[in-house]
Formats: sequence, C-alpha cells, structure tokens
Amino acid sequence: MDKPAIQYVVEEAVASGMTDIIMITGRGKRAIEDHFDKSYELEHKLRESGNSEALAEVQKIASMADIFYIRQKEQLGLGHAILCAKKHVGNEPFAVMLGDDIVVNDRPCIGQLVEAFEQVKASVVGVEQVPKSRIQRYGVIKGKRFRDDLYKVEDLVEKPTPEEAPSDLAIIGRYVFQPEIFSFLEKIGPGMGGEYQLTDAMRLLCRKHGLYGLKFKGRRFDIGSKADWVRATIALSMERKDLADELRLSPDLFKKR
Ligand code: G1P
Repeated sequence: MDKPAIQYVVEEAVASGMTDIIMITGRGKRAIEDHFDKSYELEHKLRESGNSEALAEVQKIASMADIFYIRQKEQLGLGHAILCAKKHVGNEPFAVMLGDDIVVNDRPCIGQLVEAFEQVKASVVGVEQVPKSRIQRYGVIKGKRFRDDLYKVEDLVEKPTPEEAPSDLAIIGRYVFQPEIFSFLEKIGPGMGGEYQLTDAMRLLCRKHGLYGLKFKGRRFDIGSKADWVRATIALSMERKDLADELRLSPDLFKKR
C-alpha cells in the first residue's frame, strides 16, 4: 500500500499516548529516518499541485512524535538491541514494540498493555494463542490465569518445539517493562542462536520482580511471514474507504490466462 509497516507501529504508539520514540535501526535502514523526517521538497510539490489531502498526510507523518534513532552496530539479537537504548530510557518504565508485528484494534494493543502495567505495577508482555504447529517461531510463557485475560508468568521458553512448549500462549512483539530489565539484559550471555535473547532476561525479571502476560484484544499480523504480510496488505486495504471499492476481488482475478 502507500504506508510502510513501521508507520502502523508508530501510529499505535502515538495513539497510546507515547510522545518519545527510540528506533533501533541498523545498516541499510536509513529510509526509515527519511520517511519520518520533514520532506520540504515533497511538501512544496504537493502544495503547488493543490493536493491538500496528500500534503496533510505527509505533514502528519513528520509531526507524529519525537523520534530518536540508535544504530545497533552488530546484529547480536533482540536483547542486545534493547540494551542499546538503556542510556536514553533512563530509570523509567518503557514499551518495546517489534516492527514485524502489526496489531489492529480500536484500543491500541500497547495501550492495553500500559493499562495492565499500571494496575499490576509489574512488567507486562502481549501474548496470543497460537496453534502448536507454529509455536516454534515464538517465545512461549508458562502462566496461571490471574484475572480475565491476564496471566501471571511463571516461566518462559524461547522458540520451544511443540513438545517442549509449556503452553500455547506465544509472546508477540509488544512489551511494557520496568527499567530493571536493563540490569538483567546486562547479566545474560549469548543464548539461543548465539544471540542475546530478550526472553532470557525476562526470565530473570520474572523471578525477581514478577511478570504478566496479557491476551490483548486485536488482530495481529506477523509480517515477518510472507503469507501474513500479504494477508495484512489485503485486510488493511479493505478497511480503507479510498481502496475497498476498487479492490473488491472479481472472480476474473483467479482465472488462468
Ligand atoms: C522475537 C522474540 C520472541 C517473540 C517474537 C515475537 O523473536 O525473541 O520471543 O515471540 O519476537 O514476534 P523473533 O521474531 O525476533 O525471532
């Protein structure tokens, strides 16, 4: 479509009241900075051609939030990526949102987690029931139902086989952490796949400070998977007034030529 996936994630953060966003990027990802930057040339062209709708959209992107960028110089894993932001986050609770998970709901997913965090005064991670056949792609929690859709986490395993998985509740890329997670990220060594795994630090955090899993409300697309990326593109396009009618699929589309 006309909007990069990362913008959905930023919009979710902004809709949840977040004003400061730190993006951990790396080599070859400069296009992200350019996308969220003010675009003088484009604004000028759109103003001249009288395309006020597109102009408003471009201006909205540049003013969505204060976005700061940190480059992770080596790909040492998710745990290491988060640790890169330690100095800038300081001693405050913060949210982590992974760019390859898009969650759609009227009440933004990370906002639901923040609400739960404020109630239980402990770190909260988003979880979703996943069929056993796909469980090996995720971190998985072992937990006891605390109330409604909130689980008290007792243990976590990163990418278990279906036989080893302690439940069918997979961790998705939404977290709200107490700042103590940083000290645990500093303690862990390389884990699964030689990478610094966030799940290993969460395990230590869980034992010492407690951790909850929230079965959030919303539709999640794991756009790291090709099929889900296509699904997300179709589903989100069909929700757009300016695209839905034109997109109505005609049976012709599936005819072999
Ligand atoms: C990461 C985490 C995993 C989590 C997943 C959610 O894995 O390590 O615990 O379930 O994100 O998308 P990755 O997708 O980086 O392999």
